[in-house]
Amino acid sequence: LTVQVNKPGAPVSKSMYGLFFEDINFAADGGLYPERVKNKSFETDDHLIGWKALRGAAGLADYRVSGENPIGPTNNHFLRLSVATANPDAGFVNEGFRGMGLKQDAEYTFSIYLRRGAGNISALNVTLEEPGRSGPGPETAASGRALAQTQITGLTNEWKKYSVVMKPTGTAARARLKLTVEGTGTLDLDVVSLFPKDTWNKRENGLRPDIVQLLKDMKPGFLRFPGGCIVEGRTLAQRYQWKETIGDVAARKPMINRWNTEFINKFTPDYYQSFGLGFFEYFQLSEDIGAEPLPILNVGMACQFNSAELAPISAAKGPNAGTSSSAPEEPTLDTFIQDALDLIEFANGPASSPWGAKRVAMGHPAPFNLKMIGIGNEQWGPQYLARYEPFAKAVKAKYPAMQIVSSAGPAPDGALFDAATKQLREWKAEYVDEHYYASPEWFRKNVGRYDNYPTTGAKIFAGEYAAQTVGIASPDNKNSWDAAISEAAFMTGLERNADKVAMASYAPMLAHVDAWQWTPNMIWFDNLRTYGTPNYYVQKLYATNKGTTMLPVQRAANAANGTDNLFASAVADDGTGDIVVKLVNYSASARPVALSLPGVKKLGKTGKATVLASTDLNAVNSLDQPQNLAPQESTFKVSSSNVTYTLAPYSLTVLRIPGK
Ligand code: AHR
Repeated sequence: LTVQVNKPGAPVSKSMYGLFFEDINFAADGGLYPERVKNKSFETDDHLIGWKALRGAAGLADYRVSGENPIGPTNNHFLRLSVATANPDAGFVNEGFRGMGLKQDAEYTFSIYLRRGAGNISALNVTLEEPGRSGPGPETAASGRALAQTQITGLTNEWKKYSVVMKPTGTAARARLKLTVEGTGTLDLDVVSLFPKDTWNKRENGLRPDIVQLLKDMKPGFLRFPGGCIVEGRTLAQRYQWKETIGDVAARKPMINRWNTEFINKFTPDYYQSFGLGFFEYFQLSEDIGAEPLPILNVGMACQFNSAELAPISAAKGPNAGTSSSAPEEPTLDTFIQDALDLIEFANGPASSPWGAKRVAMGHPAPFNLKMIGIGNEQWGPQYLARYEPFAKAVKAKYPAMQIVSSAGPAPDGALFDAATKQLREWKAEYVDEHYYASPEWFRKNVGRYDNYPTTGAKIFAGEYAAQTVGIASPDNKNSWDAAISEAAFMTGLERNADKVAMASYAPMLAHVDAWQWTPNMIWFDNLRTYGTPNYYVQKLYATNKGTTMLPVQRAANAANGTDNLFASAVADDGTGDIVVKLVNYSASARPVALSLPGVKKLGKTGKATVLASTDLNAVNSLDQPQNLAPQESTFKVSSSNVTYTLAPYSLTVLRIPGK
């Protein structure tokens, strides 16, 4: 192989390898967002999702969801418990998100709003416990094993927030919260929260640190959020509305999740979005992990696989149409455009601007420095274009420097792009967002996908991709080495087309092992543990070795594009002076390679090899074996101007050859 150091190509985009976040597979509530209480405000459509009354032998407590003098206008339901005869079973349990993860001696802040009604209820008992039994029959207060207990007293006849720190005496992955009362009478309960103190950067409404660490370790160039189909919603009323996700966490109203579905498995009829992880938190996360924020906004269309509802365009008048304060009942395109303009102001505007002021009030005076937004997810065709055009024009009119990512459809066989992309290119779109979920073989065969793509005009954002081992959307897909190494092979094609491909992200990013709707996923977790898949390590190796300038790799014509199962790309890293070569050997034999480096001035003596390899293409990582397949580092000798190295069977190897 010849790495043409003397013929440097295009600069590698600074945000080349990034993250795709969507609240699918319990990625937000139950995952990255560590609130332990499900449906903490009793605001889901079925108000008691996640809650169960204790019904012991000693008698029944009566309860109902009420809206009588609620704590606030958006939080207008609460639980009213009425106890006629004092008994230990007068209360409720909350199941969490497939249980609650609790760690011994860790601290959890329990908080709740309470209001006492008639009678003499004197206290609320709060217990964190492991359920002692499961199955049919009455659940009683005695049926758990307590891990922490506390009591809240000093109840008043007005809504009041109570807060106490609890420290479990044991570790449990599937604990629950039990609330019972002392005395008789009525007690109103709302905004029940159990939040770990150990969050990323120790923030009060912070994120799960083990997951954030994995994300940060990847050195992602961007964070795309909040989806995915979540952006679209099954209906327009169920679309993602960022304005509903900022401000006081207690006032954020939950909404049914687009993935509350039987699409792949039947685990999640209880899937809602609490929006505790909202747009402010997404921007903050981007900042924390050093990624450019990339919000994707609804273009005025619901999900094409569901209702395909459309917002009317006719009333659209441009950037000043619509209202920034309250969304109309039936939104027109103007509403969506205004939402985008307001979002840019929220992210970047000064404290003196209405939306900038909201960001400042949430504790972030500095702008988030938003540089790009996406308009629409997985929409294409004339209805998309009709909405996209005025939308993009309005954004550019007010914010000319804002980069826009547009949605692209699948290219027909043999074509480089679909008709909508052709039109978008004529409109001088900056990025088109292509998605591919396909077999591992497809990924290896399509490594040359962008070789003949135009070098001018819209750049590619490979916004969602993942190899599907069994079939697209099959529940049996695995995050196997076969899938991951095939993605690695494909990514050599992304890298060497640095003049056309500007961003890439694997999708989806996160999945709870007990509550997923989609597989494969990059990172899996349960309530206590998490692990990166082989696919995660492939992404990480690319992102942490992305370099600064593409270097062409020359191979014999008959070996182009990995027809001999060897795939290669190279970059120069101007920061370190290294030449970085990625090599994928998709064969069962070890493979010696000789690299010549014409144009190289002087090389250091020792290079670093990072290798991800397994002869078992079915190898996977798991919660119990998180590092079954993980990168291994070693050194190798470098002679004056060339390098020889033997690639392991079925391997991705990153060679860092030090320049001097
Ligand atoms: O990544 C899962 C889903 O796949 C996304 O929500 C959607 O954009 C795509 O179809």
